[in-house]
Amino acid sequence: MKAEMIANTYQFLLNGEWRESLSGKTIENQSPSDNTPVGSVQAMTENEVNLAVTGAKAAQKDWANLSFSERAELLYAWADQLLEMKEEIAETIMKEVGKGYSSAEKEVVRTADFIKYTAEEGKRIHGELINGGSFNAGSANKLAMVQREPLGVILAISPFNYPVNLSAAKIAPALIAGNAVVFKPATQGAISGTLMVRALDKAGLPSGLVNLVTGKGSEIGDYLTTHPSIDLINFTGGSETGEYISKKASMIPVILELGGKDPAIVLNDADLEKAAGDIVGGGFSYSGQRCTAIKRVLVLDEVADALVDKLKDKIKALEVGMPEDNATVTPLINEKAADFVQQLVDDAVGKGATPLTDIRREGNLVYPVLLDNVTVDMTVAWEEPFGPVLPIIRVQNIEEAVIIANESEYGLQASVFTKNVEQAIRIGSELEVGSVQINGKTERGPDHFPFLGVKNSGLGAQGIRKSIESVTREKVTVLNMS
Ligand code: G3H
Repeated sequence: MKAEMIANTYQFLLNGEWRESLSGKTIENQSPSDNTPVGSVQAMTENEVNLAVTGAKAAQKDWANLSFSERAELLYAWADQLLEMKEEIAETIMKEVGKGYSSAEKEVVRTADFIKYTAEEGKRIHGELINGGSFNAGSANKLAMVQREPLGVILAISPFNYPVNLSAAKIAPALIAGNAVVFKPATQGAISGTLMVRALDKAGLPSGLVNLVTGKGSEIGDYLTTHPSIDLINFTGGSETGEYISKKASMIPVILELGGKDPAIVLNDADLEKAAGDIVGGGFSYSGQRCTAIKRVLVLDEVADALVDKLKDKIKALEVGMPEDNATVTPLINEKAADFVQQLVDDAVGKGATPLTDIRREGNLVYPVLLDNVTVDMTVAWEEPFGPVLPIIRVQNIEEAVIIANESEYGLQASVFTKNVEQAIRIGSELEVGSVQINGKTERGPDHFPFLGVKNSGLGAQGIRKSIESVTREKVTVLNMS
């Protein structure tokens, strides 16, 4: 039987029941590698979306009444179920979003670890007592009891590139804090997300506490993000969509994890071997389809040739091919993404950039591109390719590097490579980003570190403790003593 005949159709979870949509419509996901069908998800109607949100709202109160340790039990069981389903989920991630198999497996394990740490951290969330007399003597009879309470229903919208990890990274903190969740995965990635919800369901998910919504964002997105029973939107994805969502979401908080144009700034005294290894690892893993990928190198002219030689060697050694073969650089998520990368490269080469690798493309597979002598008039100096392209911008001094780094619309992370740590800290303090990595590649983890972007890279903070705090509000009860 041909693959297209046997690809599965997946149901959505609504108030404890796995269902097909009354729309009668499904959306087929195809493998980015060869367009073979991976499976189909339901195209839900607005009415079904409404049931998902109102069902979550109804389930939230009982859940919030449980203790932290009772809620933690569900999270531990979920992590166990995910690990039991590790191979099935990793294989689905691999097929659905074209991630190398071992990276897909690591994603599942990282997610289980994330969930378990979240359960532990949730147990450590506590309030405080504030004595009124610290402000003025006349208020000494007042005692404020400050506690954290859940916001209500969290809308979690996840991207294609970490269809399990970045979904659970929204759902687990919401649950441990006592919220209910409506989970809308990116359509490409929705099958992996569905399996993750199956694991949660098997773990004993109370009916309605997490409802799964699938369908095209263009059809149900506005309805979902403006639903009056949503209390916070947590979105990871493109900056344009993030901005759109934040405009739509009036009077409710949003957490946005958006794009980046993370620079690696390489100074004259850097360990070039280490810098080159981190830059290639940071720039090309999962074909550069990570918000935290290194997306430009700002290198001082004096060491540029030496660095470029090392980068060339390391790029040559990258495995390019199919996710099944565990390649690092694999086909991009779709044709549009590959076309976009190609345009950026063509624009740069047309304006005088020097390609140091063969420019080659087979379908959605774009071979890694190293571009030297990139200048600020080239689009690739500013746009996020979300693909395997690394532009080298040679700079005369540190000030120029900082200016170019900060001219970006984005401000997620930056790396500074130098043996002079004091200098790195000084440069870091001038960089308009959420995190600075000294002598290391840009990356989100470890997952308990705060993770945030400034400018068009995001709003709000994540990282396990921050993520829990972000889905709670402080409630103050003042005791006026006689
Ligand atoms: O794509 C955005 C992710 O948050 C990046 O996570 O640095 O662990 O790859 P990562």
